[in-house]
Amino acid sequence: MLHDSVTPYQNKETEKKEQVAQMFDNIANRYDVLNSVLSLGIHKGWRKKSVKILSETNPQLILDVATGTGDFAIECAKLNPEKIIGVDISEGMMIVGREKLKQLNLNNIELQYGNAETLSFNENYFDGIVVGFGVRNFQNLEKGLSNLYRILKPGGQLIILEFSYPTNIFVKAFYTFYLSVITPLIGKLFSKDKRAYSYLAESVKAFPHNQQFINELNKNKYQKTYFKKLFFGIAAIYVAKK
Ligand SMILES: C[S@@+](CC[C@H](N)C(=O)[O-])C[C@H]1O[C@@H](n2cnc3c(N)ncnc32)[C@H](O)[C@@H]1O
Repeated sequence: MLHDSVTPYQNKETEKKEQVAQMFDNIANRYDVLNSVLSLGIHKGWRKKSVKILSETNPQLILDVATGTGDFAIECAKLNPEKIIGVDISEGMMIVGREKLKQLNLNNIELQYGNAETLSFNENYFDGIVVGFGVRNFQNLEKGLSNLYRILKPGGQLIILEFSYPTNIFVKAFYTFYLSVITPLIGKLFSKDKRAYSYLAESVKAFPHNQQFINELNKNKYQKTYFKKLFFGIAAIYVAKK
């Protein structure tokens, strides 16, 4: 199945973008807790590693695409940049995020509505761009990647963190079981949305992994692309330059 056609509610009348926004609005209040429970907290270290790579170019104006509740933007703030803009299509997720920013007193982060595929910032605008667990949800991956390329400054880095698939057969078997059975079960019990965590498994399975995703980046003109596998390959950091 093509990854673009994997949608949260499998409703042919509504675009993927609207279904994704609705799904994240539905789970926004439980997102952070469920994220930590389901990943046993390891996702935090993954953002740290990504930001360490981002720091290599000392970015001052950073864009966090698909910011959700703002965790990647908050991690980027440790680099002390002048400004971080987080964009998302789910207002519900950003309401939770803005509350966190207020409590942390992080005044250099601003969260605003924005769709990766149609963001209208000027060309060559951002020093660095990060996307955490967002690209898999884009309605049109190519459009999203090429628009991010347009607004990234020459020499700037795009860092993408995304779930992937392990290659070791034992880890793969366990991961498939965890993702397809355990995650939807816990998701169903603790979030108001029955489909959200089944969609997670389906979308991870259908999405291009590792070298396949690097090929997508290369197709969209990115240079010096490489990826690092995380935790037996269940996730990966993709790094690309303009
Ligand atoms: C799994 S959450 C990730 C949130 C956060 N980046 C993190 O690391 O926890 C995915 C987010 O992507 C957003 N999203 C999906 N498609 C998008 C798009 N085309 N443009 C902007 N945000 C999008 C969703 O609304 C959701 O908040």
